[in-house]
Amino acid sequence: GKQGYAYYMEKEINEQPEALKRILTNYLVDGSIDLGYEGAVDKMLTSFNRVCIVACGTALHAGMMGTHLFRKWLGIPVETEMASEFIYSDTVLDKDTLFIAVSQSGETIDTMEALKKAKKEGAACLAVLNVRGSSISRIADYTLYTDAGPEIAVASTKAYTTQLMIFYLLVLRCASLRGRMTEADLEHALENLRRVPDAITQVIAIKDDIHRQAKEVIMASDLFMIGRGMDYLVLLEGALKLKEISYIHSEAYAAGELKHGPIALITDGTPVIAAATQTKLISKELSNVKEIKARGANVVLLTKEELKADFAQSDEYHVIGLPNLDDEYMSFPEIVALQLYSYYVSADKGLDVDKPRNLAKVVTVE
Ligand code: M6R
Repeated sequence: GKQGYAYYMEKEINEQPEALKRILTNYLVDGSIDLGYEGAVDKMLTSFNRVCIVACGTALHAGMMGTHLFRKWLGIPVETEMASEFIYSDTVLDKDTLFIAVSQSGETIDTMEALKKAKKEGAACLAVLNVRGSSISRIADYTLYTDAGPEIAVASTKAYTTQLMIFYLLVLRCASLRGRMTEADLEHALENLRRVPDAITQVIAIKDDIHRQAKEVIMASDLFMIGRGMDYLVLLEGALKLKEISYIHSEAYAAGELKHGPIALITDGTPVIAAATQTKLISKELSNVKEIKARGANVVLLTKEELKADFAQSDEYHVIGLPNLDDEYMSFPEIVALQLYSYYVSADKGLDVDKPRNLAKVVTVE
């Protein structure tokens, strides 16, 4: 049951700190990352020179973050592709490619067909799944489980954050196996990951502030989300969340792309969520925020507590300060803020949060 929560989505958002602690317990053995299968996954991780990640929807967004991390910490060519497109694409795969399929249910037909194709072409196939024993697990060479527990709400929440956590662990393991990261850097990274569950609890603690911001947009027809780098990747997922359960047309744009077209959509009163958690991108993001403010946008800014001072002088927009983690890990608190935001918009509109129109939890038709 919903254990006192109004909707499964609310329950599942709140389950994230526990679910993430569970992953860390499962995959950290005596302080180092152990991906299981008695070293067989490690062996796979030392032998590829390209990565291809394929999934749908929220799992695709987690895969995009995986791509970002592989590029950042391994410096090898990586691409993410939508499963439905991959099936008909001419993407080059070979025995030196690590192919990763990501799926909460493990039953999504497009992702399954993509995996079959990759296997046929000789790629090493890894799956990141939530449901044990699901169809995709039977096709992949190895499966890393997110063990988030059953996710009932159609809008995926804990599946995403646990998929992200798997990608951090996978890429860090890879980087340390290949000597791309010192022991000290690895330890520092793991320290940050261990702080993630508490950081999420802290975001849930400021839910009333997030709720107040959500109330402002329940009548809106369009909403835009802008950010750079990792922020942009998180916003893609945030915008999917908002559109699927609130029916507000919401789109994420890379802030630097705004003036190449999308800024034409910004007029007086257009709601915009700007995310700026990456220290080195702050000044550029600030100038984008100024541009849209000048066109009348109503801006809510997501940043981290320690960067708030860079923005707080302005009373032109509302600033939400997220708990401080190193920039590379801010994706976790950031998405939870956006999950809560979408949840409140949907609930306050009186919609069926857990069962949005036209959508199914598991998509078994192509
Ligand atoms: O079970 P899967 O992870 O393969 O599902 C993929 C998508 O259908 C799913 O993430 C969908 O986008 C969610 N409704 C998003 O909240």
